[in-house]
Amino acid sequence: MLNNPTPVIAIDGPTASGKGTVAQQVARVLGFHYLDSGALYRLTALSALKKHMSLADEHGLAKLAAELPCRFEGEHVFLAHEDVSLSIRAEEIGNAASRIASLPAVRQALYGLQLRFRDAPGLVADGRDMGTVVFPHAPLKVFLTASVDARAQRRHKQLIDKGFSANMEDLRNALSERDARDANRPIAPLKPAEDAHLLDTSEMTAEQAVEQVLGWFAAVRKAH
Ligand code: DC
Repeated sequence: MLNNPTPVIAIDGPTASGKGTVAQQVARVLGFHYLDSGALYRLTALSALKKHMSLADEHGLAKLAAELPCRFEGEHVFLAHEDVSLSIRAEEIGNAASRIASLPAVRQALYGLQLRFRDAPGLVADGRDMGTVVFPHAPLKVFLTASVDARAQRRHKQLIDKGFSANMEDLRNALSERDARDANRPIAPLKPAEDAHLLDTSEMTAEQAVEQVLGWFAAVRKAH
């Protein structure tokens, strides 16, 4: 915080842990910018699938990521001129995003793009490696977790609300598989930063989690 006056709140955690909802609400309350880093991986995956590229073509995918024509407007995400806010949320895209996210060149290509979201008066960044790799000096790091069952239920509700079909058993299996891939990759694996606050939201409402994060941030501000 001392070197860079623009504070970052890094919120990491596994898929469907509630980090997106919590991060967006914290950003709204504080009037901070918001980075949904997962959306960048999803956009790259969607773009690759549209171009019929192989999800193993590291060099080609990295080039795609480096030149990603993306734009965020409020809750809307655009790929070139197309509003893809809904299509990037499909499970197929999430799983493809997880696969390409294990490729070092793709992560490198998206790194600089993520740094550019840090702008006054502050940034709330959500993802897997916000506190460990992208913003290692963030004054507040939070690692959200929730049980696989709680997360499968949340993802089920999200998908149904968005008009996608979803099956609980399939979701639970896909979540576990995605966790294992995200946590075991050699580069920027899903894991809490050493100085992260851990928050298990299995039994919490989003409002309670937001209050907790805001409380931690108020304490950090007071200490500086
Ligand atoms: O948060 P999400 O479900 O939208 O992320 C989709 C995938 O992107 C996730 O399974 C792993 C990858 N990802 C990542 O590797 N690093 C990030 N900072 C964010 C997402």
